[in-house]
Amino acid sequence: AIHLPGRHFLKELDFTAEEFRGLVDLAAELKAAKKAGTEVRRLSGRNIALIFEKSSTRTRCSFEVAAADQGASTTYIDPASSHIGVKESAKDTARVLGRMFDGIQYRGDAQATVEELAAYAGVPVFNGLTDDWHPTQMLADVLTMTEHCAKPLTGISFAYLGDARFNMGNSYLVTAALLGMDVRIVAPRAFWPGDEVVGAARKAAEVSGARLSLTEDIAEGVAGADFVVTDVWVSMGEPKEVWDVRIEALAPYAVTMDVLRATGNPDVKFLHCLPAFHDLGTEVGREIHERYGMRELEVTDEVFESEHSVVFDEAENRLHTIKAILVATMGDA
Ligand code: CP
Ligand code: NVA
Repeated sequence: AIHLPGRHFLKELDFTAEEFRGLVDLAAELKAAKKAGTEVRRLSGRNIALIFEKSSTRTRCSFEVAAADQGASTTYIDPASSHIGVKESAKDTARVLGRMFDGIQYRGDAQATVEELAAYAGVPVFNGLTDDWHPTQMLADVLTMTEHCAKPLTGISFAYLGDARFNMGNSYLVTAALLGMDVRIVAPRAFWPGDEVVGAARKAAEVSGARLSLTEDIAEGVAGADFVVTDVWVSMGEPKEVWDVRIEALAPYAVTMDVLRATGNPDVKFLHCLPAFHDLGTEVGREIHERYGMRELEVTDEVFESEHSVVFDEAENRLHTIKAILVATMGDA
């Protein structure tokens, strides 16, 4: 099994394609072992710090349960309860926590902060979401794709619809480029990933043979896709004032049953990292309904609850894949 002692996971391109696939394979092994009751603890006595400057359900719980399953302890540090970024720099925080912990997870806005933690901690640092990348999510999504599509990774195609110039869009583009997949970014041009991200992806694709396309045309973008994927139109940390513009620009790119039919693939599957705006049963859902008269945004409730949707397998796989990264970087060989 893959062993990557001491390595950071700050963005997808920190790993080679072989290492990335090795982590996904390890996650599949750990998942099978947990379900069979044969899991072996490889993180006994380790301590992991979990710094969250933004909210989380899946990422936090995955790190905590993965650590517990493997015999490690975690310390959860919420936005209000540490000095980081307020009274103490990331550089100093890293040097303190690095003396106490064997690994550090960071979720916040700036990629520069997680990079700085990694530069000074002396222990592996894991990016649990920044504005630029969501690398642990990509391990889960690739595992989920391999579970729901019989093709080899290099034969899998997926279309990402919606706001693609933020963490999820960026991460999907470079992950597909790294692994040699067929990815279509389907969004208005203003929502395509930035030039730097597209450039890095094109470079990786030259090595992997990945097929990358960026298009505004939904029918062209989704044709033949094995997976259709989306994310929220307004991300954490963005002001509500952007809703007006976003909803107007992205409404045609909502994932509906018509979009799934346009793939021409009756077995097409739907992925979403979650949380998703697909019903009115939440505070934000009700607010959007009151202001815009809409009851669902980036995905319809019909798609979300359909046979095509594998979003809860994807969410579960956060646990197994985060466990894989912890075991590979911090665990006994
Ligand atoms: N998908 C994801 O990262 O979810 P959380 O924000 O709940 O961690
Ligand atoms: N783009 C979303 C992803 C959440 C997991 C956000 O940044 O809020």
